[in-house]
Amino acid sequence: MHAKSLAIYQKYYGDPRHDRRSLFRVLAAHTAISTALYPGSFVHIVPSFFFPTTVYVDTDKHARRFFADPDLIAFIQVRKEYAHDPTVRFHAVSYLHPLPEPDQGVDMLISQFAGFVSQHCRRYLRIGGFLVANDSHGDASMAALDPSYTLLGACIEQDDVYRLQTSHLDHYFIPRRGEPATKEDLERTQRGIDYTHSADAYLFQRVA
Ligand SMILES: C[S@@+](CC[C@H](N)C(=O)[O-])C[C@H]1O[C@@H](n2cnc3c(N)ncnc32)[C@H](O)[C@@H]1O
Repeated sequence: MHAKSLAIYQKYYGDPRHDRRSLFRVLAAHTAISTALYPGSFVHIVPSFFFPTTVYVDTDKHARRFFADPDLIAFIQVRKEYAHDPTVRFHAVSYLHPLPEPDQGVDMLISQFAGFVSQHCRRYLRIGGFLVANDSHGDASMAALDPSYTLLGACIEQDDVYRLQTSHLDHYFIPRRGEPATKEDLERTQRGIDYTHSADAYLFQRVA
């Protein structure tokens, strides 16, 4: 891989203990995902180690250069944990605008530190498919308010290893103080909520 691409990857995701691979490994083990969409991915290529086809979307110029690297597939080949050859597509556009991807074309939508992906990209996720979202920008809270999604699990990280908790889900999304946030509150603050119990990421299913 080109030295500049490798350097940017190493800078942000170079330590396998902190690249969230354990999260995607757990999700791959619990679901039959073959295609995923990752809006606001930057150069976080780790989902491709677990999902055979992943579509990445980012407006960042470093991401554009990274995904154009002719050695990217070889980089994934030696790290992937499935039998197929990997397929990667990258769109250097804003996910706020229509993407050149079919509606309901993917099994998983990935929302990590990149805004309200659950809302803007819901159409690309098949009904019955999965959303994994954290609450850093309030997207998990937004999905929890959205009747198109139902909560299936909480992804809990300890010592860089994630586990999926599927019981006692009614403990989540209960504000520590005050009234529950509305969609408008979340859009205004673009921040997660202080809950009585919180998880590192949440697994939802698209139901409508
Ligand atoms: C904080 S980084 C998170 C990167 C990666 N998701 C992760 O978890 O490590 C947010 C990324 O989202 C991208 N982003 C934010 N809004 C976007 C939009 N509307 N369309 C495409 N990319 C966007 C930014 O360019 C940036 O690379």
